[in-house]
Amino acid sequence: MTQLFTKITELREFLTDRKQIGLIPTMGALHQGHLSLIERSRQQDQVVVVSIFVNKLQFAPTEDFQQYPRQLNQDLYLCEEAGVDIVFAPDDQEIWQDRQPKTLIQPPSFLSEGLCGRSRPGHFIGVATVVVKLLNIVQPDRAYFGQKDAQQLAIIQQMVKDLNLPVEIIPCAIARDIEGMALSSRNQYLNAAEKLIAPQIYASLEVAQTAFFNGEQNSDRLLDLVQSYLANTPQLKLDYLQIVDPHSLQPLKSISENALLAIAVYLGKTRLIDNILLTHNFRVSQ
Ligand code: PAF
Repeated sequence: MTQLFTKITELREFLTDRKQIGLIPTMGALHQGHLSLIERSRQQDQVVVVSIFVNKLQFAPTEDFQQYPRQLNQDLYLCEEAGVDIVFAPDDQEIWQDRQPKTLIQPPSFLSEGLCGRSRPGHFIGVATVVVKLLNIVQPDRAYFGQKDAQQLAIIQQMVKDLNLPVEIIPCAIARDIEGMALSSRNQYLNAAEKLIAPQIYASLEVAQTAFFNGEQNSDRLLDLVQSYLANTPQLKLDYLQIVDPHSLQPLKSISENALLAIAVYLGKTRLIDNILLTHNFRVSQ
């Protein structure tokens, strides 16, 4: 039976002395991607906690904070079905006391200013700050993050290392629909026509992956292949397309071992991100 907590003190009281806690931090609107993180936690942890909090600190004023899907009842039902022990769903007042926090976590610029950081300045300060708060509130042994948000994952891994946070970060593979589209709560914004186009994003990354498997290591040539493929779908407006080191997120001219091919596009008004790991080493987790 899933228990719902909205207050930090009540949650802390319940969790004190519990061992092997797994945390899946989310902003709700749960989908199969979140459920795969929950399943990973269920396999390893004794207590599975899902946090549901739409964090306004990570949205710019021009972004979709108001519109972001909020469906707590359905999320609770999915958590119950998935065997989640605890849902922590605080409101804004509980987390921020209705004011801008005075202490913020500033991720290093080499990780946070490229890729999504270029069009979303301040976004990763909001993410890092709320993630530290959630880790301090829940005090999990492990926390699970999807590889779809590869930049977020790299920033959180760096933060945990730099601040000696006593938690193991578990990266989890991207969940995709049958057409290959990366699952995201924002996919709900797409209309029927856009849903038919969206799988082309992953298809474009696969073109580069195939060339990489056939021996192409030059980043510019791989990026050209993706761009030529995307030229057939003018509805997808490129925000960025880059090949970077998966940990330092610095651009790579050529790929010797592992590289992250990352993309962000606008489809109509919706901004979608995806990525693929280019590697011959299949023990590297994607
Ligand atoms: O990935 C998300 O859903 C959010 O960025 C997170 C990690 C829950 C922080 O608000």
